[in-house]
Amino acid sequence: MSATESLQQRYGPWAVVAGASEGTGRAFALQLAAAQIPCVLIARRQGPLTALADEIRAATGVVCVTATVDLSAVDACEKIATAVGSREVGLFVCNAGADPHGAHFLDGDIDQWINLLNINAVTMMRCCHHFAGPMRKRRRGGLLLVGSGACYGGGSFMAAYSACKAFELCFAESLWSELRPHGVDVLYMALGTTDTPALRALLDSKGMPPPAGLASPEAVAVTGLEQLSCGPLYNWGFSEDEAGFAPTSPSARRARILAVDEASRRIFGDA
Ligand SMILES: NC(=O)c1ccc[n+]([C@@H]2O[C@H](COP(=O)([O-])OP(=O)(O)OC[C@H]3O[C@@H](n4cnc5c(N)ncnc54)[C@H](OP(=O)(O)O)[C@@H]3O)[C@@H](O)[C@H]2O)c1
Repeated sequence: MSATESLQQRYGPWAVVAGASEGTGRAFALQLAAAQIPCVLIARRQGPLTALADEIRAATGVVCVTATVDLSAVDACEKIATAVGSREVGLFVCNAGADPHGAHFLDGDIDQWINLLNINAVTMMRCCHHFAGPMRKRRRGGLLLVGSGACYGGGSFMAAYSACKAFELCFAESLWSELRPHGVDVLYMALGTTDTPALRALLDSKGMPPPAGLASPEAVAVTGLEQLSCGPLYNWGFSEDEAGFAPTSPSARRARILAVDEASRRIFGDA
């Protein structure tokens, strides 16, 4: 069986990509289209979604559907479900969820942190509930949650973000365990710094240059789809034997926070 056939058989006929118009979401949509899986492409701006759908159709003949939805809105999942209609969804990629602010908790408006929570926790969970039910009945499908190494602990500039990503990790692990006997794959992909327009915009707003060694969105998408059946967790850039990644002792966690603080200062400056 070819790689294309197996992706299609396992995760077709349709995928939904939440946060699809650029960066890793766009890369997932392109990879899926290359495997002849059309996507329902979700983001807030129609222009980039239409451009991507046109690009995919020209390159592969695959016809995607677009829908403008704000994932932080309370009715986001409902709107996605309406856009999907009666299409059979075999894969949900929960991509959007970066923190566009990079601020200390008290220096940001509370609503911006609540929006981040809504995207990464509430809408993510509603969508998984909506799409995984039919997958469980069909005994096949996948949920791919794009997370962050920030899930392993807090640090300054990350209060809401790291908490959201930790929620998503625990949720993914639990769901992996529940859905495994039913043939549904669940993967939490903990990314490191990745060369997306959102990251570049954040760095730009702080007057900081992009750091060296950013992952490419294309590599993230290829690896994510390869690893989807090997859940519940994939750590970008870390080999399996680098244990101690999720320390439980207070002193190890404190040391980790200070190391994260140091890394954050290099990106965000000394706010
Ligand atoms: N980039 C990194 O260095 C990095 C590091 C670790 C983890 N990650 C994780 O990787 C994922 C992707 O990150 P990213 O850097 O590409 O930025 P992102 O803002 O999470 O994703 C960008 C995509 O999501 C859409 N989007 C953003 N907010 C949205 C909203 N409220 N409603 C609907 N669509 C929304 C954007 O289009 P519109 O603007 O048109 O809505 C765009 O298509 C996130 O989960 C992030 O936490 C990224």
